[in-house]
Amino acid sequence: MNDEIRIAVLGVGKMGSFHVESLTRRTRGARVTVVSDVSDEQAHRVGDPIGARVVADPAEAIAADDVDAVVIATPGSAHEAQVLACLEAGKPVLCEKPLTTEAATAAAVYRRETELGRRLIQVGFMRRFDREYAALQQMIAGGDLGAPLMLHCAHRNPAVPEFFDSEFMIRDSVVHEADSARFLLGEEIAAVSVVRGRPTAEAPAGVSDPMLVLFEAESGALVTIEIFVRTGIAYEVRTEIVAERGSALIGLDQNVVTKRAGGTWGGTITPDFVARFGQAYDDQMQRWVDAARAGIASGGDAVDGPGSWDGYAAAAICEAGVAAVVKGERIETGMEDRS
Ligand SMILES: NC(=O)c1ccc[n+]([C@@H]2O[C@H](COP(=O)([O-])OP(=O)(O)OC[C@H]3O[C@@H](n4cnc5c(N)ncnc54)[C@H](O)[C@@H]3O)[C@@H](O)[C@H]2O)c1
Repeated sequence: MNDEIRIAVLGVGKMGSFHVESLTRRTRGARVTVVSDVSDEQAHRVGDPIGARVVADPAEAIAADDVDAVVIATPGSAHEAQVLACLEAGKPVLCEKPLTTEAATAAAVYRRETELGRRLIQVGFMRRFDREYAALQQMIAGGDLGAPLMLHCAHRNPAVPEFFDSEFMIRDSVVHEADSARFLLGEEIAAVSVVRGRPTAEAPAGVSDPMLVLFEAESGALVTIEIFVRTGIAYEVRTEIVAERGSALIGLDQNVVTKRAGGTWGGTITPDFVARFGQAYDDQMQRWVDAARAGIASGGDAVDGPGSWDGYAAAAICEAGVAAVVKGERIETGMEDRS
């Protein structure tokens, strides 16, 4: 192996091209040698300027001799086959969320990795690398606040495409809260309920936007999530922990605060998720590259962050969340035993 590990990036749309840029400009110890996308034009647009080979077939890209590790940023429906191919090739993989689109297939991926005896799968739950989330997790785990009782989360997007219906809001947006809640509370989620509220006039017919989602953790701690994806304002992700001996809040957009003539003051709200979590995506990439290099050199684990179990847990929570939306009932996640 050269000093730098050689990466194939599968799917170079919005997220994949961001990862290519991160790997090329801001990450040490890795370079992109191969890109693969169902759109040949898109693959060349991203791959040509950095001298990466374009390989049409993702399976061929994974198996290629000039590829040591893989970043998957294709749509969720393609992840299962591509992650399994990485496992069979023995190559570390950073897979964008979701790990797979169903809990059963995600569990099967976790079991396959366990059988192989080597952790090769990292899942792109980048909030764990955000400085505020990491600090909040450490504060909770440190015990100063006492036992966590409630977590209040708000997840607001300015606008989304028409296809973002109530179920997709759970799978695509609340999935981040599923992982954040497990990360912050340090325990599994046992049940999910959803209350559909009055929809904004911006929501297509039949779509409940916003909704209130409730997770019940195994300890009984509660997680409330306001999911609202058509605010028309900006990107707002806030989390407040309420514990026995205090509370703590992150996501306040503490940018420059201005004071103006006329007696008003204000600041700016982060416009989108790349602006809000740019540092987290880049830190996730650097930590994964470092872990992948170490794993390739040692033949051992190649993960520094959420893994296949976390991908499975998020899939199980989202599956319960979708059932809760459809049936209007409290749904237990029924997660498998980890052992
Ligand atoms: N972590 C995050 O915050 C975050 C944010 C956005 C998206 N994502 C995830 O990243 C992934 C990609 O999302 P996106 O917004 O970049 O989508 P996108 O549509 O912008 O890009 C997907 C790309 O994959 C290509 N593609 C489709 N099927 C393929 C296949 N089978 N093999 C190879 N290429 C294929 C498409 O042509 C496209 O260029 C999704 O899993 C999504 O959930 C994560």
